[in-house]
Amino acid sequence: MNWQERTGCGNVGKDDVGREIQLQGWVDARRDHGEVLFIHLRDWTGIVQVVFQETESKDMLETAQNLREEYCIEITGRVVARAPGTENSSITTGTIEVTASALSVLNASVGLPFHISEKAMVAGAVVGTPANVAEDLRLQYRYLDLRRPSMQDNLIKRHQIIKSARKILEDRGFIEVETPCLTKSTPEGARDYIVPSRVHPGEFYALPQSPQLFKQLLMVSGLERYYQVARCFRDEDLRPNRQPEFTQLDIEASFIDESFLFELIEEIVSQMFAVGGIDLLRPFPKMCYQEAIATTGSDRPDLRFGLRFVAATDLFTNTSYAIFKQILKRNGCIIGINVKGQSEALSKNVLQNEYAKQIVPGFGGKGMTWMRMVDGKLDSNIVQFFSPAEQQDIIERFECEDGDVLMIIADPSYALATKVLGQLRLHVADRLGLIPKNTWSPVWVTDFPLFDPTETGGVTSTHHPFTAPDRTDFDPQNVSDLLSLKSRAYDIVLNGEELGGGSIRIDNREVQQKIFTALGLTPEEAAQKFGFFLQAFEFGPPPHGGLALGIDRIAAMVLSTRSIRDVIAFPKNRSAFCPLTHAPSLVSHEQLAELELLNLGGGEAMPGKAEKNLLETLSWVSRIGIREEEALMIKTAVEQAEKLATQIQARATDEEPMFSVIPLQNRTRPGREAVAHFGVENGDLLTNAAEVKGDFFKVANIIE
Ligand code: AMO
Repeated sequence: MNWQERTGCGNVGKDDVGREIQLQGWVDARRDHGEVLFIHLRDWTGIVQVVFQETESKDMLETAQNLREEYCIEITGRVVARAPGTENSSITTGTIEVTASALSVLNASVGLPFHISEKAMVAGAVVGTPANVAEDLRLQYRYLDLRRPSMQDNLIKRHQIIKSARKILEDRGFIEVETPCLTKSTPEGARDYIVPSRVHPGEFYALPQSPQLFKQLLMVSGLERYYQVARCFRDEDLRPNRQPEFTQLDIEASFIDESFLFELIEEIVSQMFAVGGIDLLRPFPKMCYQEAIATTGSDRPDLRFGLRFVAATDLFTNTSYAIFKQILKRNGCIIGINVKGQSEALSKNVLQNEYAKQIVPGFGGKGMTWMRMVDGKLDSNIVQFFSPAEQQDIIERFECEDGDVLMIIADPSYALATKVLGQLRLHVADRLGLIPKNTWSPVWVTDFPLFDPTETGGVTSTHHPFTAPDRTDFDPQNVSDLLSLKSRAYDIVLNGEELGGGSIRIDNREVQQKIFTALGLTPEEAAQKFGFFLQAFEFGPPPHGGLALGIDRIAAMVLSTRSIRDVIAFPKNRSAFCPLTHAPSLVSHEQLAELELLNLGGGEAMPGKAEKNLLETLSWVSRIGIREEEALMIKTAVEQAEKLATQIQARATDEEPMFSVIPLQNRTRPGREAVAHFGVENGDLLTNAAEVKGDFFKVANIIE
């Protein structure tokens, strides 16, 4: 193989006409016309058409006729211009082709689980796309899925996105430092993945949820500008934009304030989006948390469209409308949105039967009040309960014009009312197509509360416990004082998606201790969890702050992929499983024994000690308590089962296992025809169905 002589398939062009070249790559597609055979040859630079002709070599043509998709081959050939009318505009090399003079098959391929080719050989031919293949199958054969040009492009662009950020950081004197993966728990709010230690039996490392503690320690060390393309691990409920392991661009700097970070991150994010040809307008606007919630009901406000909240509580202080009256008695709030000019799309039926009865309750709301503006007047099922003065106030406050639709949420809880209206805002915007395409609205969300209340009357960190508060004179035992604190944290949000978050940190040992106390950690517990960290802060720590950007999310947005899995080479599926390697998987008894995990914590009752105490093991494994009087009966049954299993094992042959040992039959109603429930006929069965189609309940699509 002469790699020096190799030309990239996608690099062959008109200028090469007449040249003899060598190509290596995969057979993307083939077209056999008997005396002449065409293939699309693909490598990561692109695709070029190669022609095998009987006139060149009969043997070569015969070999070519045996080529199948994804054979890895090498050819030598001459570049020729295509005859007018035979060009292929779907490939960049479509004006030329290569007439092969030699062919060698480097490696054959077995039949494919799915088509890889994305480029038609002739105009109008149907080609494969990843979207047509079940995702688990794609992940199982990820190495084939990644042969697709579109998937390779995602990974190449991801690389360019990271490279663009590295360049800016390095130009500004940041250095990349690696921090450990086998470490102690980092408090980012998710569960840890833990790794058992063989050397320290019964003890565990935690995989980092982020490099937070180490990057702050690097600041204490005086490495003033740090970054890392860092792998983070979080055992949390999966969502479309989450993976159990993901990558952050993690940044920290000393002797700086928020303005340093805002400018730096805006530059980085802008350059990252420029890789996808997206121009972000700078400086990014800022919005404090309180305003984000009050106007959009979300700390990740999507500002691409209007539908901002209108506060209306004060309009109804003397109302006789019973529902509002009750809610206001309980110090509740009334907020709404004006969906301008949409009364045709939002009919009375849609508003009442879909939104008020189904969609809003689905978001956790108790109901929705709606009104439509028709001929200068409000129109709704309850408008008669409002006095003419109240109606006039509503029209003015919501700036109503004919054709407008008001959607109003009232609830005793401000948090719930804003959350429900926030979700409603997104739903309506999506349904009515109010979100403009190709619009990019970045925003910094600032001034978060430092703490959130817990159900047990305490507090928990809104971000993480190292975030600096806006004042330090707080009483760590006084919950209402704690809940009034704001943090010096900031999130960067784009089109309603959180791209990153960070803060100015606490750099004072006493303040840090006060935060741990507020979180309910005794000095002993704080020392046990973070002693090493607190101690470092006794040695003159510098003021510092930083941020982490979610690289997977950014790449997915820049490339407009359907999921973050499309920008990760080997992601886990929606249930945190890897269909390629089958991880997570069971480990051998010996491995567990070596790690001393067989008798961890539960002594005799753990699995692996079966010989010693069968019943306790059974009880432990099945999580079912076994009473003394049942013990003998269960023991006898288990021993019999064990004996039977041993006999079966002894008789095991190479025979294919049967799927069912008894002939299949209808066990519930043998011999009877299926009978429709009488309720179907008289219509009772579906009376309570939210929505019905024919004789069926209609359920929501599960969408991602
Ligand atoms: P935070 O927890 O906000 O901050 O994480 C920073 C960013 O990482 C991305 N992200 C994820 N991406 C994919 N899958 C996940 N499961 C996932 N979880 C988070 C998000 C998020 O904005 N140590 C702090 C940063 C700091 O304070 O400097 C931290 O980790 O885009």
